[in-house]
Amino acid sequence: MRALLPEPLPDPDLHAWYATDWSDRGGLRMSFVASADGAASASGSSRGLQTPGDQRVFRALRDLADVLLVGAGTARAEGYRGAARAVAPDPRRRATREAHGFAPDLPLAVVSRSLRLGPLLARAPAAHPASSSAPPPAPAPESAPPPAPAPESTRPGAPKLIVITCAAALAAADAALRDALDESADLVIAGDAEVDLALALDALRQRGHRRILGEGGPTLFASLIAAGLVDELCLSVAPRLAGPGASRIVAGAPWPQPPLPLRLAGLLEDDGALFCRYRRPGDQVASGPNSSRETRLDQGVSPSSATGPGQ
Ligand SMILES: NC(=O)c1ccc[n+]([C@@H]2O[C@H](COP(=O)([O-])OP(=O)(O)OC[C@H]3O[C@@H](n4cnc5c(N)ncnc54)[C@H](OP(=O)(O)O)[C@@H]3O)[C@@H](O)[C@H]2O)c1
Repeated sequence: MRALLPEPLPDPDLHAWYATDWSDRGGLRMSFVASADGAASASGSSRGLQTPGDQRVFRALRDLADVLLVGAGTARAEGYRGAARAVAPDPRRRATREAHGFAPDLPLAVVSRSLRLGPLLARAPAAHPASSSAPPPAPAPESAPPPAPAPESTRPGAPKLIVITCAAALAAADAALRDALDESADLVIAGDAEVDLALALDALRQRGHRRILGEGGPTLFASLIAAGLVDELCLSVAPRLAGPGASRIVAGAPWPQPPLPLRLAGLLEDDGALFCRYRRPGDQVASGPNSSRETRLDQGVSPSSATGPGQ
């Protein structure tokens, strides 16, 4: 891995590199991987686009976050049941997080209107057999499938899954779903008929989560941009061609013209893969107490002003 911008460095410390202009400032940082031809997924997931360098960057970004934010579509497509295990990383990762001023656990926040959260909402396991007077369960027949592993959020002491939704969605939930949410989730009701993402991010900040890492997906990213809430885009460009038909890192209704400009604040290269840190033009680090707040990746895009296809 080598840094090309803002200045050349042969083997940068990735944590220090990504902590610069981030750990102190905080904000919403989005992380995506795309192929050289702009695909955000290959065969339905982003895994086919990942490179060894991308894995290193992916881990460093998670190590430098107070909370991980994803849309429910990404949680479903990418099996965040599995990824939730990485959200409570191994002891070395926990120590790394603490050394950089972050809590050892990384909570997961999921945005959903439908509340179709499946395995993410699994209930906490029963008491450990060794501490229970109940008889042990009968052995499963040989042909029975192995029990699904409990999600990491059920580990004792692990932070609860944060579920971000709106009042109308909760009102439409049945009793079983409400029970599951009561038991397994830290529920954020942001907005009435639709999820208000600005309120959602405020709720995360009220929980002490200033440095928010968004891992997608494309629909949530487009909504966050439209609401003017994104401070940084960390984009990995994999040296691969995914071919026609793949989705992009944004999805939803087209935006009005012109395209939003970005400033390339940093660039790494590893074995042909590029790792870009984009911010808004004019978004420089505040140098004094009277410096104005940085701009964000938005300015003037709103869902209501979005035009139809082809315009
Ligand atoms: N290349 C990458 O780095 C990358 C990263 C992430 C994902 N992906 C890929 O992207 C694909 C998934 O795309 P996606 O667009 O479905 O992902 P997504 O944005 O994570 O999920 C969309 C879903 O999230 C919820 N959501 C998003 N924005 C919302 C809002 N403003 N208000 C309320 N709910 C909101 C809704 O959930 P409900 O349906 O529950 O209401 C919506 O259906 C997968 O193929 C995945 O592999 C790629």
